[in-house]
Amino acid sequence: MELKKIARDVWAELEEIGDLAALEKFRVKYLGKKGAITSLLRSMGNMAKEERPIFGKAVNDLSKQVEERILLREAELKEKARLFQLKKETLDVTLPGRKAILGHRHPIKQVMEEIETIFLNMGYTIAEGFEVEDDYHNFEALNIPKDHPSRDMQDTFWIDTDVLIRTHTSSVQSRVMEKQNPPVRIIAPGRVYRCDDDVTHSPMFHQVEGLVIDQGITFGDLKWTLTIFLKTLFGEEREVRFRPSYFPFTEPSCEVDVSCFACGGVGCRLCKHTGWIEILGSGLVHPNVLRNVGYNPMEVSGFAFGLGIERIAMLRYGIDDIRLFFESDMRFLRQF
Ligand code: PHE
Repeated sequence: MELKKIARDVWAELEEIGDLAALEKFRVKYLGKKGAITSLLRSMGNMAKEERPIFGKAVNDLSKQVEERILLREAELKEKARLFQLKKETLDVTLPGRKAILGHRHPIKQVMEEIETIFLNMGYTIAEGFEVEDDYHNFEALNIPKDHPSRDMQDTFWIDTDVLIRTHTSSVQSRVMEKQNPPVRIIAPGRVYRCDDDVTHSPMFHQVEGLVIDQGITFGDLKWTLTIFLKTLFGEEREVRFRPSYFPFTEPSCEVDVSCFACGGVGCRLCKHTGWIEILGSGLVHPNVLRNVGYNPMEVSGFAFGLGIERIAMLRYGIDDIRLFFESDMRFLRQF
């Protein structure tokens, strides 16, 4: 008889069910509107009257039992799914954590701070000017008149006929002296701009300017100061050489070299086999520059110097392309 067959099959089939979707299918198959058990009730119409109550009760009992077992099975499956999910999401709290990457100062800033420290220790203070400058402070006040050929030494970014972005930190010299009476003892680190772009030149780079003005300052003070500075920066064993040169705002002027710190002075690729590496420009401040700020060159004198930071960082760390400093590539920056 149909009922008995169903009652036999249904339990075995239920055991096989492994997930909630299959369970729902099973429910529909037996208890749905057209389900096997539901259909049994509908077939009662053809039965003898006295058989109906007994049959009906048997079907209802079975239906209830199946429904109960479905609920149980559903609970079991849900629990199984929950445990599986938990296992999947397990965290091993004993695993070592990921290290946070600590930032650090840019190599240019590091060299700059090293230089600042040396001069701060010698009693200098730090001065600042403007990156956007006028012709007067960048050129004119520094004894570089409009038609002076030395303007070609620094290819200028002009903003308009009178305004530019400074080509050197020397523009800070007159800014400071205009505001302050001697003695002056400052350094001025900062960005400068020149229309120039290749592996050793960047349109924006950094300089540190130095300026000392007082009564009786001589070339001897310049030599002493820069020798101490360069030996502190590059090592006590370096030799320092002063070479005559020309800048419109200093007289006499010189360029200063240190013995090559790669080969010790015997000659190598870094020093182009000269044994020397050029580091900075300097000189005694030109009387015209002093006059322009209202100082009396008969009463006070001084020296100035200026150096490029990128160049020093490149030489020191063996970097052959200046553009690496400004590309923000962490693979490069992390090395410093
Ligand atoms: N301003 C010069 C340059 O940019 C460097 C310099 C500064 C030279 C001070 C002499 C005195 O090349």
